[in-house]
Amino acid sequence: MTDVAVPSDRDALVALFSRSGFVAPEDEADDLIVHAAGDAERLRALVERRLTGEPLPWITGHMQFCEIEVRVDPGVYVPRWQSQALAHRAVTLLPPSGTAIDLCTGTGAIARVLSTAHPGARIVATDIDGRAIACALANGVEAFRGDLFAPLPRSLEGCADVVVGVVPYVPTTALALLQRDALAFESPLSYDGGPDGTDILRRVLRDSPRFLRPGGVLLLELGGEQADALRDDMAHLGYDDVIVLLDDEGDVRGVEAVWRSAAST
Ligand SMILES: C[S@@+](CC[C@H](N)C(=O)[O-])C[C@H]1O[C@@H](n2cnc3c(N)ncnc32)[C@H](O)[C@@H]1O
Repeated sequence: MTDVAVPSDRDALVALFSRSGFVAPEDEADDLIVHAAGDAERLRALVERRLTGEPLPWITGHMQFCEIEVRVDPGVYVPRWQSQALAHRAVTLLPPSGTAIDLCTGTGAIARVLSTAHPGARIVATDIDGRAIACALANGVEAFRGDLFAPLPRSLEGCADVVVGVVPYVPTTALALLQRDALAFESPLSYDGGPDGTDILRRVLRDSPRFLRPGGVLLLELGGEQADALRDDMAHLGYDDVIVLLDDEGDVRGVEAVWRSAAST
């Protein structure tokens, strides 16, 4: 419970959310009002949850990602708008009847974007967290629970046109710098990439060639100097045509690389 009086009319709710520092107070107020369906007590309870910093999609149960409605269950990582560019890039790279693997899928948002854009493609996904897998399945994703590639059917080996992943890549020492709400509500399992953040990225680089076809593309979200830190590994493992993906501000957001074949190493 908060000690803030929770208003029930829209304007006062928008004003409260503005004072509380929310970036989209009108949208948040409207979402909660719709979700409360005219029940004032329910609206009060929803607003109180939101004022604790609980993610809005956990409260309403859904959000938009790449203009697609995605179900978001409590406890499951909330897809970030910054990952939309990577999802769009994966759509561009995937042939209409190709095969894609979405590692660390969370809600299954990226897999859903891919299958919506390419209904004839096969999209499979994995996540280590059972709540994420339940959510991804509810979003219509063919999802398997387990560590990275481990739970995938062996029949997919050598077949993937695209392997995409928003895997944990935050350096352990930087976890404390994450937004307060992320730390308070989301699991460190979603973020912690080891001492320099590249532990899981490196494992994905190493294991992807088993599932990529020659000429298939690996697409990973990362940040800072991580793309440079991975360059030697990529060259050694047979990746080339490496592209570092930047956002509109010029910040590093991802890396893309074509896997040729082990023989080219
Ligand atoms: C940053 S979230 C990304 C989720 C989703 N791709 C998205 O963008 O919304 C990372 C996800 O990786 C999962 N995860 C962490 N370690 C994993 C592992 N070793 N194997 C598979 N999934 C893992 C977490 O459960 C979490 O759902």
